[in-house]
Amino acid sequence: MTERPSSRMVAAYLREIGIDYLLVPGRADGRETLEDIRKELLECRGCPLCAGRRTVVFGVGNPRARLMFVGEGPGAEEDRQGEPFVGAAGKRLNQWIARLGLRREDVYIANIVKCRPPENRAPLPEEAASCLPYLKRQIRAIRPEAICTLGAVALQYLLGTGEKITRVRGTWRELDGIPVLPTYHPAFILRNQPRETEVFTDFDLLAERLHLK
Ligand code: URA
Repeated sequence: MTERPSSRMVAAYLREIGIDYLLVPGRADGRETLEDIRKELLECRGCPLCAGRRTVVFGVGNPRARLMFVGEGPGAEEDRQGEPFVGAAGKRLNQWIARLGLRREDVYIANIVKCRPPENRAPLPEEAASCLPYLKRQIRAIRPEAICTLGAVALQYLLGTGEKITRVRGTWRELDGIPVLPTYHPAFILRNQPRETEVFTDFDLLAERLHLK
C-alpha cells in the first residue's frame, strides 16, 4: 500500500518547487476568510477615525460561530487591547453568553466601526457607512445562524432602521437571510440594571432559535 504523504511533506514539496501553499488565498469553498478581511482592514484609511486609533478592533471569536454579536464601536480599553468588549460592558456580555451555555470563544463578536470614536461618542453615519462593508464581509465569511445586535446604534446601522430599540428589542428581524435579534447594549444595562430581565428574555429567544442549553 502506498503511504499517503503528510500535509507537512506536501508543504515541503510545494516549497521546494517554489510554491508557498500558505499564500494560496481563500478557502476551498471560494469564500474569503476573516484573515483576508482583517489584513485589508489593518490598512484602512476610509474615514477620519483611523487618525485617532491605537489599534484596529477587528473582531474576536470562532470563525465558524453559530451566533454573532454586533456592538457599536471600540472604547478606550478595546482600542488599547485590540479586542471588542473587554471592559465592564464586555464582562456583562460574557455573563449573558454564559447563560446560553456558551463561552466567549464559541461566538463571534464585532462592532459597527472598528476604530474608536473620540470621547466614546457614537459613530457618525459616514463613519458607519465607510466601515459597514467590512462587517458585512465578516458576516458573509462566518455565516452565523443568528446575529444579536447590542444597542440602538448597532440596530440602526446594521439593519438600516430608525426604529426605537425599546420597541424592537426581542423581535426577530432579518439581514441577507440571517435572523437578527436586537437587544440592549450591556453598557446601557450597567446603568439601568432593572432592564436586564428584558435581555434575559431576548437571550432565551436566542437559545430557542439555536437549540442551546
Ligand atoms: N461597546 C461596544 O459597542 N463595543 C465594544 O467593543 C466595547 C464597548
